[in-house]
Amino acid sequence: MQSFKDKVAVITGAGSGIGRELALQLSARGCRLAIADYNKKGLTETARLVKQSGGAAMHAAVNVADLKQVSKFARDVIKKYGQADIVINNAGVTLFGKLDNFSYKDIKWITDINFWGVVYGSKEFMPYLKERPEAAIVNISSAFGLIGVPSQTAYCATKFAVRGLTESLRRELKSTAIAVSCVHPGGIKTNIARNARFSGNFSKDAPDKFARRFEKVAGTTAAKAAETIINGIAKKKKRILIGGDAKLIDVVQRLFPVGYGALMDLLYK
Ligand SMILES: NC(=O)c1ccc[n+]([C@@H]2O[C@H](COP(=O)([O-])OP(=O)(O)OC[C@H]3O[C@@H](n4cnc5c(N)ncnc54)[C@H](O)[C@@H]3O)[C@@H](O)[C@H]2O)c1
Repeated sequence: MQSFKDKVAVITGAGSGIGRELALQLSARGCRLAIADYNKKGLTETARLVKQSGGAAMHAAVNVADLKQVSKFARDVIKKYGQADIVINNAGVTLFGKLDNFSYKDIKWITDINFWGVVYGSKEFMPYLKERPEAAIVNISSAFGLIGVPSQTAYCATKFAVRGLTESLRRELKSTAIAVSCVHPGGIKTNIARNARFSGNFSKDAPDKFARRFEKVAGTTAAKAAETIINGIAKKKKRILIGGDAKLIDVVQRLFPVGYGALMDLLYK
């Protein structure tokens, strides 16, 4: 993307973490924002921070798992700004536990948000993006969209799905002005672990232990992650890897596409 000035950037999951940092940094680069989250408190705070730093953000309480809400959000963005140039499908959650203990309800919950949310965001905004001289769809997968990880079966499944969708969509859109990026962050210090759902039999303190362990190993800040994504959009990068851990996972997966599991066990013992 040649310039961010006066572009309209749509960001889901902007009430926290990477989404909030994307909002602040894209605003600083001159974008007008349309931000969404189902957490109204976090979203309002992001809008306040954007305004405080001199930017403009329309904000809407949107559950990305609900097609009607995403569709209305897309129409509202066009009503407000007349255009949409960048769509970042960032909203996401994680589910901790083992597949044999997961309830189907929990698997559906994460799939509706992490996969269907990205489908809805990509599809509902696409007609408007096609009208623009240059545009971008940016879908947030994960380093866990490159490798399978125990205790994260459902999360990995959704993030592999986002990658499949995004890489296929890029080829479908190759004769348009829409650049399509798939983002694979490693561990980023955000609220994702604190917001995780646990499915199965866990002790009361398991969520806190999980979150604390995650916060210790997550090596990249949300601000750095947002900066890497924005630089990737500027360069129309197809695959955006964030952090040394994601880069290592990418290499290990390429070298040992089947045997990476045993190697990861050794590295992260
Ligand atoms: N933090 C990491 O280590 C990491 C690593 C790889 C990928 N990611 C991905 O990055 C994205 C952003 O996560 P984060 O780390 O900033 O986490 P976060 O929990 O800090 O932020 C996620 C935001 O998404 C919102 N959200 C969740 N479900 C929603 C829904 N149904 N509708 C609308 N909003 C919803 C939450 O309210 C929250 O504000 C996610 O897709 C996540 O899977 C994060």
